[in-house]
Amino acid sequence: MSLHDSLWINATLTVITEEGLPETLEDAAIGCRDGVISMICAMEHLSHGATDMAIKVHDVEHACITPGLVDCHTHLVFAGHRADEFKLRLEGQSYTQIAEDGGGIISTVRNTRAASDQQLQTTAQSRLQYLIEDGVTTLEIKSGYGLTIADEEKMLRVVRKLGAISPVTIVSTFLGAHALPPEYVANRHGYIDLLCRQMLPRLHAAGLIDAVDGFCEGIAFTSDEIERLYQVAAGLGLPVKLHAEQLSNSGGAQLAARYGALSVDHLEYLDEDGARAMAASGSVAVLLPGAYLMLRETQPPPVALLRKHGVAMALASDANPGSSPALSARLMMLLGCTQFNLTPREALWGMTLHAARALGMADTIGSLEVGKAADMVVWDVREPAELSYWLGGNMAQSVVKDGVIIHHR
Ligand code: NIG
Ligand code: FE
Repeated sequence: MSLHDSLWINATLTVITEEGLPETLEDAAIGCRDGVISMICAMEHLSHGATDMAIKVHDVEHACITPGLVDCHTHLVFAGHRADEFKLRLEGQSYTQIAEDGGGIISTVRNTRAASDQQLQTTAQSRLQYLIEDGVTTLEIKSGYGLTIADEEKMLRVVRKLGAISPVTIVSTFLGAHALPPEYVANRHGYIDLLCRQMLPRLHAAGLIDAVDGFCEGIAFTSDEIERLYQVAAGLGLPVKLHAEQLSNSGGAQLAARYGALSVDHLEYLDEDGARAMAASGSVAVLLPGAYLMLRETQPPPVALLRKHGVAMALASDANPGSSPALSARLMMLLGCTQFNLTPREALWGMTLHAARALGMADTIGSLEVGKAADMVVWDVREPAELSYWLGGNMAQSVVKDGVIIHHR
């Protein structure tokens, strides 16, 4: 009988010590069996005959192996693009101004409503492939460009379909509270009613929702409005998250923390009370350097405060057609370092273990530990810090999901 389905030898492994601290293990081996990590050891402790007893042995010649990357915040399903708005912003218009003029999220809503399931699926699938080739093995995708029951359902159906046909794990998040749809401009209350009384309960009953998100901001929803939605989510037993303090401090982080949010995302304008509240609730701070870059924001999230209060920081692509047309997870690690002063190690844990926590999945993915899913990436580099250093390039040699190679270069 074979000991391992696959055995990866002569690797530089990023692992977690028994104390839960990240550590680099040189000259190490990792074994997988039945989709799960079955062994991690130093090469010198590899038992005699272990390689003979593995079905497949890969000698990676001192390449780095990290956990599969986890992209815990994306809006990957949408129609069209907004390169025209990018041009307007380069000419000096603000994201807020463009949204107030009827562009922004609402312009993608128009395109997404007009698109078929198949169109949404095909375009999202090709974007997803870029992320997979960049080492992503788990990701989250939000709705929020439909904003009617039928169109939100269409988006979430496509998310579930992508989850079923692609080799990676996909978490589906309901973001009906993304923007006020044009048909409700004179009736905000009516839209919140629709969200709370019909959309969320129905789409949840259809099995389409894993978590509930909202956008708490001057151009979107108030914290009182988000709270009504959170109450319904809590009643349904669904975890919550929030886009908060992206363009201003609206107190969203404190609200989300009160509801035990898995994560609070963006956070450029977070204050110390907000950071304290997140520390107390254990909510992960998801930093989105792609949106910061593309909106040419100048106030970075308060990383020092987050460190001081022990709030775990994750990084994500926020892949969306407006604020962050990002198709690389590794580039987010680099931007997290250059724009937000994260260390390369914080960037790596931000794109793996802490991102897994932001999805409530840290028990099964996010680190190379015996018993966790065998989701890992063999990189074209010899030191983990290089992952947030090389600017561009397709550096994922092999992307492994549940022990199976899903991409090889
Ligand atoms: O995370 N902040 C709100 N939502 C997205 C942007 C969506 C869009 O502009 O289409 C974000 O940045
Ligand atoms: Fe977002």
